[in-house]
Amino acid sequence: MAEKKYDIGLMGLAVMGQNLVLNMVDHGFDVAVFNRTTSKVDDFLATPEAQAKGDKLTGAHSLAELVSKLKSPRKIMLMIKSKDAVPAPELKLYPESAAVDAVIAELIPLLDKGDVIIDGGNTQFKDTERRTKYLQALGIRYIGTGVSGGEEGARRGPSMMPGGDPEAWPLVKPIFQAISAKVGPNKDVPCCDWIGERGAGHYVKMVHNGVEYGDMQLISDAYWILKNGLGLTNKELYEVFAEWNKTELDSYLVEITRDIFTVDDPETGKPLVDLILDAAGAKGTGKWMSQLALDLGVPSTLVTEAVYARAISAMKQPRVNASAILSGPTGQYTGDRKEFIDQVKQALYASKICSYAQGFVQMQAAAKEYDWKLDCGRIALLWRGGCIIRAVFLERIKDAYDKDPNLENLLLDPYFKNAVESAQGAWRNVVKTAFELGIPVPGFATALTYFDSYRSANLPANLIQAQRDYFGAHTYLRVDKPGEGPFHTDWINVKKS
Ligand code: 6PG
Repeated sequence: MAEKKYDIGLMGLAVMGQNLVLNMVDHGFDVAVFNRTTSKVDDFLATPEAQAKGDKLTGAHSLAELVSKLKSPRKIMLMIKSKDAVPAPELKLYPESAAVDAVIAELIPLLDKGDVIIDGGNTQFKDTERRTKYLQALGIRYIGTGVSGGEEGARRGPSMMPGGDPEAWPLVKPIFQAISAKVGPNKDVPCCDWIGERGAGHYVKMVHNGVEYGDMQLISDAYWILKNGLGLTNKELYEVFAEWNKTELDSYLVEITRDIFTVDDPETGKPLVDLILDAAGAKGTGKWMSQLALDLGVPSTLVTEAVYARAISAMKQPRVNASAILSGPTGQYTGDRKEFIDQVKQALYASKICSYAQGFVQMQAAAKEYDWKLDCGRIALLWRGGCIIRAVFLERIKDAYDKDPNLENLLLDPYFKNAVESAQGAWRNVVKTAFELGIPVPGFATALTYFDSYRSANLPANLIQAQRDYFGAHTYLRVDKPGEGPFHTDWINVKKS
């Protein structure tokens, strides 16, 4: 009897890898697995869940063995853990590419033309661009895919954002779309679709993560002003977030925030959230998004502020020292509490809209720069389920791009324009109150500044241009002479009024 061949091979049996494998088998695919530390292969196959899969699952103790067990064209998915993810208080990037490059180099001689390598990690998109082109020249098809949703998502249905070599997509599409989360009235629309060529999938996943940073910071801003400005208890915070989760803020992150306020530390019986050191870690995708926004010259201020907020949080000892030296206001809000809670909700919603608007603007700018065709409506739909930023309001974003695929900014869509305009009074009051009380709300404040800047026909950059021309002859354009210039003035010797 001919030896059984498997539909797909997966290397990397950390939590995400194991759960993806079980998910694939649940959906009828035969999977072969491999891990560098081979005892992990045996341990995994010995688990009751893996045992129950019978011969639909097999192990390999080398890459060559893994490759030999696969149907042609072979599909090998790498779920290589970023082993040097740093916990707080350090905020460093991981040297992301070396491990994946080493495995690819090892795989190349084992593969035939037409075989597919898939990288499912959080990879910097430029590595995916480079690898796709390199492997294409060798006849090997490459996919770099975002996989979002953590452990539970990987097991029950993640959101997946594949990009790379378009010829590889039809080969993996049935597997990816089967295992991904499903949305829509009949729960049959997969949260997985082709994003675009080369690094497009990993870029979109990076923006997903940056938006995730923004969401988390905005929720934390709300938490902090409700806790310190109003003195809400954890029980009250639970109730507030539970209410909000029944509104347009309905989302995974608001839901888990609600639940976090109910968890007591088993050891001390105290609320666990109050025992956690306020020093945020990061693995770097938010930082990448911010760096790449700077490269493109687009104002993704929410993610940047969120990265900085994590950075200043990680400076725990300097903050403790400074808190003994620097003073500021200490009081609490004295107005109507119920009304203020509602205003915070509106500030959160309006800021969130600005954050998503920035994320989509960055993706559109990147598509132009890197020559991808991104479908913003479809991306919103992929984020509708399975992923960390899944939220009801993504449906609205999809509608906005369905109406106008070239929409310049979400804030210009009638629904979002109206939502932000009706929230802005409350939003301004929350930021003003936070500033008066000396409570930092970096996300709310930067979002409001973005909104006010974007809706300003005139900004003070005329003065910046004058300064640049004064000290460096950097020249300027004139409002009264469109199409002419650039102009330069001898600011020192010119006649002054
Ligand atoms: C996801 C998440 C995930 C990410 C973590 C940690 O989509 O499932 O985005 O990919 O790695 O959220 O990110 P940080 O450690 O940078 O906060």
